[in-house]
Amino acid sequence: SNLDQLYRQVIMDHYKNPRNKGTLADDAVTINMNNPTCGDRIQLHLKVEDGKIAEAKFDGEGCSISLASASMMTQSVKGLSVDDAIKLAHVFYEMMLGKEYDEEALDLGDIEALQGVSKFPARIKCATLAWKAMEKGVGQNEAE
Ligand code: FES
Ligand code: FES
Repeated sequence: SNLDQLYRQVIMDHYKNPRNKGTLADDAVTINMNNPTCGDRIQLHLKVEDGKIAEAKFDGEGCSISLASASMMTQSVKGLSVDDAIKLAHVFYEMMLGKEYDEEALDLGDIEALQGVSKFPARIKCATLAWKAMEKGVGQNEAE
């Protein structure tokens, strides 16, 4: 459908022109996380100030889905409170499970473009990698 095609374009745009790729100064938190199914890894740098994610940058190796997702995630969480960033992560996980998610709860930005991944269970870990890293980084990573 047209929507699928639009979503594919959004994913490829984030993959080819990643937002927030790079590193941050030494006082930022750095999280290394790998996808156990393939060994690909990302490195996420976060700067949390006054309960808000002031800066987010990432680097790493991975497939188009994992890198596009990291790009979308950093774009979406920058400027959010830690609480809202965690909420957004959980909306994203619902989406990845193919469940209903609250479209109005928060500004979903581009992350909805990845909703089709729910149909490919082997790729879900690719899409959630950056979000798990973010949760770990803000110190609230929940046990799986
Ligand atoms: Fe299999 Fe990503 S881990 S496709
Ligand atoms: Fe490794 Fe997707 S195949 S992160």
